[in-house]
Amino acid sequence: PTKIILDCDPGHDDAIALLLAWGSSEIDLVAVTTVGGNQTIEKVTRNALSIARIAGIAGIPFARGAAHPLLRPVEVAGEIHGDSGLDGPVLPEPTLELDPRHAAQLIIDTVMAAEPGEITLVPTGPLTNIALALRLEPAIVDRVREVVLMGGGAHLGNWSAVAEFNIVVDPEAAAIVFEAGWPVTMVGLDLTHQALATDDVVAAIRAIGTGPARFADEVMDFFASSYKEVQGFEHPPVHDPCAVAYVIDPTIVRAVPAPIVVEMRGEHTLGMTVVDLRGPAPAGTRTKVALELDHARFWALVIDAIRNLGDP
Ligand code: BDR
Ligand code: CA
Repeated sequence: PTKIILDCDPGHDDAIALLLAWGSSEIDLVAVTTVGGNQTIEKVTRNALSIARIAGIAGIPFARGAAHPLLRPVEVAGEIHGDSGLDGPVLPEPTLELDPRHAAQLIIDTVMAAEPGEITLVPTGPLTNIALALRLEPAIVDRVREVVLMGGGAHLGNWSAVAEFNIVVDPEAAAIVFEAGWPVTMVGLDLTHQALATDDVVAAIRAIGTGPARFADEVMDFFASSYKEVQGFEHPPVHDPCAVAYVIDPTIVRAVPAPIVVEMRGEHTLGMTVVDLRGPAPAGTRTKVALELDHARFWALVIDAIRNLGDP
């Protein structure tokens, strides 16, 4: 199994990413860190701990990270994820204690204590914690296996015509992460807008009948209604587990090497990920963009993982 740190802002689709990471036998989830994004850091951190209780996640550290983007004001996604950041299901009181370290420090400690090439970082929120970790301990660049992040898009935006939420709320952090020189796979909207929770998917999850499955069902139900109302989607795109799925089985995603930079100054294009697809990518290009998803195999991974969680 691949060892990952999930850096997240749960968040409905982050919740599904957590279930997938903990339930998959191909992933060894070694730490969970939280970052302000879909809601404030207090809210998303509490949500992460509640999800841990629902999914039976134990024996690994959870640490709270950045409350605030590097330069820009806090911006949350209340219209999509609700006032709690995870509206819909009734969340149990957390039982896990938070690790006392800042998320960035936990990331550094975990990466530096592991063998080179052992840890994959999977950020599914704004990139603030990862940028802070890079600045605090630049040596992590050579020790991380790769960064597989949900964010951005080659041809699509959701927070503006051309920018995706995770990138645009902290574009400077994103620029630091894309420019660090480590391998980065961008699992952006081109890919995640194919990860639609269609009726057959929802029915299959519901049929599992366990606590985590009921939770996933309620999560998707709320997500479906907000995506329909706010963005006009018939079925919601479940973004964040796509990054975890790529780590589990890269063959379910078609990703191509391409230079990627983040727009930090554009009047109409702030936070755009500018992907140079003119190809072939110059030698030494270490960034990739995910373009095509095998919908059936992706959802089979998620459904299996939820089933594997049993009834904790
Ligand atoms: C991303 O933004 C958040 O609202 C979701 O959790 C996902 O990480 C999609 O743009
Ligand atoms: Ca997220």
